[in-house]
Amino acid sequence: MSGEVFRPGELWLDTDGVPINAHGGGVLCHDGIYYWFGEHKIEGPAGNRAYVGVRVYASTDLYRWTNAGVALAVSTDTTSEIVAGCIIERPKVIFNRRTGRFVMWFHLEPAGAGYAGARSGVAVADAPTGPYRYVGSLRPNAGVWPRETRAEEKRLLTEVEFAAIARLKLNGGPHPEFPRDLIFRRDHAGGQMARDMTLFVDDDGAAYHVYASEENGTLHVSELTDDYLRPAGNYVRIFPGEFREAPALMKREGRYFLFTSGCTGWRPNALRVAVADSIWGPWTDLGNPCVGAAEEMATTFGAQPTFVLPAVAQPGALIFMADRWCPQNAIDGRYVWLPLAFAGSRPVLAWHAQWSLGGAF
Ligand code: DGJ
Repeated sequence: MSGEVFRPGELWLDTDGVPINAHGGGVLCHDGIYYWFGEHKIEGPAGNRAYVGVRVYASTDLYRWTNAGVALAVSTDTTSEIVAGCIIERPKVIFNRRTGRFVMWFHLEPAGAGYAGARSGVAVADAPTGPYRYVGSLRPNAGVWPRETRAEEKRLLTEVEFAAIARLKLNGGPHPEFPRDLIFRRDHAGGQMARDMTLFVDDDGAAYHVYASEENGTLHVSELTDDYLRPAGNYVRIFPGEFREAPALMKREGRYFLFTSGCTGWRPNALRVAVADSIWGPWTDLGNPCVGAAEEMATTFGAQPTFVLPAVAQPGALIFMADRWCPQNAIDGRYVWLPLAFAGSRPVLAWHAQWSLGGAF
């Protein structure tokens, strides 16, 4: 892709002519420059693990991206949580005005344990392109009950309940006997599972971490501390037991919109969007915002959401960013960027083989 046009799903070259390598990404706009952070993937199925780290590109027009290097490098130290071969997914960076620091959060799976870790990694930098210093990882909200938990619900699991959950062998996808309201209790003491994630900074500077939790069954929206480095201990569970992941959160005219996919591994599935007047909900499901052929609607145009990017230079223009994964040759995953339109107060996403900011809104 070159020139002033987006070509969703096509090979997209950086300004050196090399394919952009920033999967599961997000974009930060800072001082008039866009920074696109994403997973650097290598060739083959090994590319589904992290052997390089989080790469960053810079752009002033959103079409042409310059490779700005590795923002967060994996470690060669075998005792490090981010040693080469771990899993680093869906990195997002936000800027903290109070501290003047750039804060990166990502889904971290320590090496060798598949997706069982379900942790959140945090790194900080003094400049947008880094280098980012790894701070550590956590499972959010250890010892904190969700906001809506009634007094009688605040109880830990019995041995019998623990054993019953273990017998289900939950694997990150829907299960007919999924115990909708037990997993967050199981994880109360040690912290909540956190896989697919995004970050969102509200108009008042408060930042939120949205993550697929509870064996992927339920999403959490969790406020961060003022420095954005830790959970503030204030969170809500949404869509319990509905197995939504790949969250992307945006705000328009005072309302919050949350885009999510279903949980089908690397295979694409139908998009859903929900709306709320408060970030704490209630969230109302608006269904699938995609319009097009049945196959396109059932697969989100063959892609999975990762971020919604407000194109600052053009007020109101929103770009829906998604990944068309290629797990057998991870580096060849493609980027599907589409204009996010609104029909009244409902988001609408349609396929455009080629489009530009001036023409699509
Ligand atoms: C879907 C997630 O959205 C991806 O980030 C990745 O974790 C894959 N599942 C792994 O199967």
